[in-house]
Amino acid sequence: MEQTFVLIKPDAMQRKLAGTIISRLEKRGLKIVAMKMIHMDKTLAQRHYSIHKDKAFFNDLVEFITSSPIIAAVFEGEKAIEAVRQTMGATDSVKASPGSIRGDFGLDIQQNLVHGSDSEESAKKEISLFFAPNEIVG
Ligand code: RTP
Ligand code: MG
Repeated sequence: MEQTFVLIKPDAMQRKLAGTIISRLEKRGLKIVAMKMIHMDKTLAQRHYSIHKDKAFFNDLVEFITSSPIIAAVFEGEKAIEAVRQTMGATDSVKASPGSIRGDFGLDIQQNLVHGSDSEESAKKEISLFFAPNEIVG
């Protein structure tokens, strides 16, 4: 069993797509083992996306992800990291396959609805950044 970290981003919250996104991940066979609603501050956003700190879009990304409350969650399942990434679709929503969350609900490269860890290493790091061990209860 694998665990992966998911964020329902501000655009999805504002468009009231949180339930739809959670439902798609659950229907895929993934189990919620931790979940909370938070308003990320700049420091947490910069740490979460530190891998992108030198990219041109970094400041915009931090601004976007801190712009409203979001949902942070841990999903568990067989190959959960790959399954979530595939269910999300490509980063640029225009290029994401129909049937994926981004491909069905978005058009934007930045406001792309959902985040999922991209490797085992990032999953471990991201889960521990947002959740204490005793908050993972599934
Ligand atoms: P995420 O980390 O949020 O799951 O998304 P990802 O792996 O598909 O994409 P990544 O390359 O890690 O980029 C992180 C987030 O930064 C925003 N972005 N903006 N303006 C741009 O060119 C641009 N490129 C990326 C997106 O919100 C992307 O999900
Ligand atoms: Mg990423």
